[in-house]
Amino acid sequence: MLDHLKAKNRAWAEGKVATDSDFFKRLERQQTPEYLWIGCADSRVPANEIVGLDPGELFVHRNVANLAPPQDANYLSVLQFAVEVLRVKHILVVGHYGCGGVAAAVDNQRRGLVDHWLHPIREVWHDYRQELEALPNEHARLNRLCELNVIRQVRNVATDVFVQEAWARGQELHVHGWVYAIADGLVQDLDVTISQPEDIKRLR
Ligand code: CO
Repeated sequence: MLDHLKAKNRAWAEGKVATDSDFFKRLERQQTPEYLWIGCADSRVPANEIVGLDPGELFVHRNVANLAPPQDANYLSVLQFAVEVLRVKHILVVGHYGCGGVAAAVDNQRRGLVDHWLHPIREVWHDYRQELEALPNEHARLNRLCELNVIRQVRNVATDVFVQEAWARGQELHVHGWVYAIADGLVQDLDVTISQPEDIKRLR
């Protein structure tokens, strides 16, 4: 089964070795990524491909609607390892327009467990209700909610103990908020980068 995927895998591995014979041997020894990507699980938002990075260059955590919930053991384990062991210099929280998770958070339909997972997005919706309701249509409101959700997750990451401790010991670490547009493949920097504890005050 899945022979087409196995064939693609062989072709991919051969292609890597053809241009760089040491490629996999080098990776076997260690990974030294400079970046942690926290993104949506959506199949249209492939982390490495979007920023043109090879295996070994990007540490990746993806879940529905790119959340960084302060009680989620999966996310926290990734964050701690990235900050304390890999010592990444940049954490990128990357949302995307047209996010089904963000839309599902506020459409008042019941889906089960995922409604609980998406609860933090409903909180963002309530916090920015006035701004969102002033927008001309649902499309604009959901796109803005995607951005506001990224900014909230940037705040979650930047206020986390692991990140605060890294700054306290003088470690260089920047937390960025980006939004990816499936329509043209481009990321937009939301310009909410946090590089030290004092920067958090700049966030809305
Ligand atoms: Co999504």
